[in-house]
Amino acid sequence: MANDRPRVLSGIQPTSGSFHIGNYLGAVRQWVALQETHDAFYMVVDLHALTLPQDPKELRENTRLAAAQLLAAGLDPEHCTIFVQSHVPEHTQLTWLMECLTGFGEASRMTQFKDKAARQGNEHTSVGLFTYPMLMVSDILIYQADQVPVGEDQRQHIELARNLAERFNGRYGKTFTVPEPYILRETAKIFDLQEPTVKMSKSASSPKGIIDLLDDPKASAKKIKSAVTDTGSEIRFDRENKPGVSNLLTIHATLTDSTIAEVEQKYAGKGYGALKTDLAEIVSEWAAPFRDRTREFLDDPETLDSILAKGAEKARAVATETLTQAYDKVGLLPGKH
Ligand code: TRP
Repeated sequence: MANDRPRVLSGIQPTSGSFHIGNYLGAVRQWVALQETHDAFYMVVDLHALTLPQDPKELRENTRLAAAQLLAAGLDPEHCTIFVQSHVPEHTQLTWLMECLTGFGEASRMTQFKDKAARQGNEHTSVGLFTYPMLMVSDILIYQADQVPVGEDQRQHIELARNLAERFNGRYGKTFTVPEPYILRETAKIFDLQEPTVKMSKSASSPKGIIDLLDDPKASAKKIKSAVTDTGSEIRFDRENKPGVSNLLTIHATLTDSTIAEVEQKYAGKGYGALKTDLAEIVSEWAAPFRDRTREFLDDPETLDSILAKGAEKARAVATETLTQAYDKVGLLPGKH
């Protein structure tokens, strides 16, 4: 791995079981591309998942499942560093320094926290959910990441990472790279099939609105065929007036590596039914090998765990170096940490 490449880092939570097509087209697909041009670090953020209650057995299964799906999607341990967040304890050690650098008011203004806390109520909201942004900042800064590929909803957390890196550097001398957001392409944003103005997401969508990649192809075909489409019959990309059709066009174009214009052209004069039938076929053809590869990794947990152990070892080498410097800068006595 060439070290002169810019470094990217990103993470995905192991909370959902199967990835859905929005996870894949919106994020993971671009992670796969970035491993060829960047020094890429990708992790399954199991510690972040603990900010909400998790069943231990499910968490363990979902963590392996997330890693298996990342590999099945094309992340290659020879071309990137893939690991599980909790295998690198330095993240939580750096988090303490970040928490001590963050104002209480500043943390209270994080919109994702405010939204989730408002939904759950204070008594059901963990302090971990409150300090989650500082853990995420540590995930990023500990690898001296140049760029962080994330969706728009994570922009404020990247902004915090930039602020804390600058604050730390200003106070103690240059220690951290100030990361840039690498906001994932808007065209790759996938919407709920039933509510095509809302992003496809496990927490917000009904099962009918989500295409799960590990689902039975028949179930996915059925969901695509009953996707909400718009009045009129013309197949045209128009997010404003035809959100349902536009969403199907996006999925089609991305999976077939075509432009939206090419897909529009293909369906000129045809009805919604033709688009849906073809799309169900395309998704099913794409998902079949993905499911098989995921299954192979899950059927061989030893190989999977050894890939993750190697990833963690590579990640730890970088993380330890940064943590040692940061501990030293703030005035902690050198010792065993
Ligand atoms: N908070 C991110 C999400 O929910 C996941 C995440 C955790 C992450 N640590 C990260 C993303 C570091 C990028 C970099 O999507």
